[in-house]
Amino acid sequence: MAKKIINSIDRTALTPNYAPAWFTPIKGKKSILWDSNGNNYVDFGGGIAVTCLGHSHPELIKVLKAQSTKLWHVSNYLYNEPALELSELLAKKTFADKVFFSNSGNEANEAAIKLARRYFYDQGKLEKNEIIVFTDAFHGRSMLNISAGDSKIQKTGFGPLLKGFKRAKFNDLESVKKIISKKTAAIFIEPILGESGIIRATNPFLKGLRKIADKHKALLIFDEVQSGIGRTGTLMSYMGYGVTPDISTLAKGLGGGMPIGATLAKKHIAEAFQPGTHGSTFGGNPLACIVAKKVVEIISSQKVLSGVVKKTISFSKKLNALTEKYNMFSDIRTAGLWIGCDFKTVKSSNFIQSAYKEGLIVVQAAGDKTIRLAPSLIISDKEINEGFKRFEKAYKNIV
Ligand SMILES: Cc1ncc(COP(=O)(O)O)c(C=O)c1O
Repeated sequence: MAKKIINSIDRTALTPNYAPAWFTPIKGKKSILWDSNGNNYVDFGGGIAVTCLGHSHPELIKVLKAQSTKLWHVSNYLYNEPALELSELLAKKTFADKVFFSNSGNEANEAAIKLARRYFYDQGKLEKNEIIVFTDAFHGRSMLNISAGDSKIQKTGFGPLLKGFKRAKFNDLESVKKIISKKTAAIFIEPILGESGIIRATNPFLKGLRKIADKHKALLIFDEVQSGIGRTGTLMSYMGYGVTPDISTLAKGLGGGMPIGATLAKKHIAEAFQPGTHGSTFGGNPLACIVAKKVVEIISSQKVLSGVVKKTISFSKKLNALTEKYNMFSDIRTAGLWIGCDFKTVKSSNFIQSAYKEGLIVVQAAGDKTIRLAPSLIISDKEINEGFKRFEKAYKNIV
């Protein structure tokens, strides 16, 4: 029987499925948050890779304000201009020809799997419906996504889970070769494992997956919910790998804080989503799409993307310097401004609490030794320096 965990703050009407900090941010600007007591926090977490342009970006506010006085919602029986424009922009900037909009990473992944299965169904290949997934994967919390994911804790108590998934070992091509068959509809993978601590697929592995998928006439689906939108220094991480998927998902950074998900696909596959096959009431919401369009425009500029590369070097140097000085980390894994750090001795949960006290926000990753940094992609040098001053103090408080 699972132990009942009572949150330390059981004073709200919210369900207790999160364990939030004791303070409540009420406003944010750039990479600084302020709580209701006026304390400030340097935000190295970025709302888990969401606020890619920091908080209250003036250009995002401008387009949101303008759209808010024009049109909030129409049903999907009607087009709306922001959704049309965002889909065209994504099609122009990525491998995709067509985009399905939803509200979250969960839904984007759900649509990706449905699309892959439907694509083969339409060809009369009814048995081609198996999906190969990976060890340490995280794809979201819906029934489909916990079934595809590899976390026991996330599955516990929620069975029966969905069938049709076969699990291979991340970064191990042989394990994929062993289970792929003519029944395989798709290989579904995060090119870089996010929740598991920023672990990169190797280049030969992803290239190998592309080849195996082609050989078995299966689709390759990338979950770029966390790795997309400039996080790794290219608009989407597949661009850095030079391996193109057939379907890919986006969410998190796409809206810069507005809830939006997107499933990107090549035209011949997207054709499987004919009227009536799939849908979402809020998918393609004009407010979310107008903001996302501005986010993509800003992030895909060379200035921002090369800035990510420079800032990554700055973060790496500072983390390595702390390790040299304090023997702090056993491993630091960077994928652009998306960094997983394993502490040698301290617990990450203790560090996070101490960081809060010092006015710094970082995020937990797999297990209790790893933290994740996913700051704004345009965080300033001043904010980085201030954040690291607080980082050092937070560490010193707990050793
Ligand atoms: C790789 C990946 N896929 C899917 C999801 C689920 O996204 P959402 O929480 O928006 O449903 C997440 C969320 O952390 C994620 O990191």
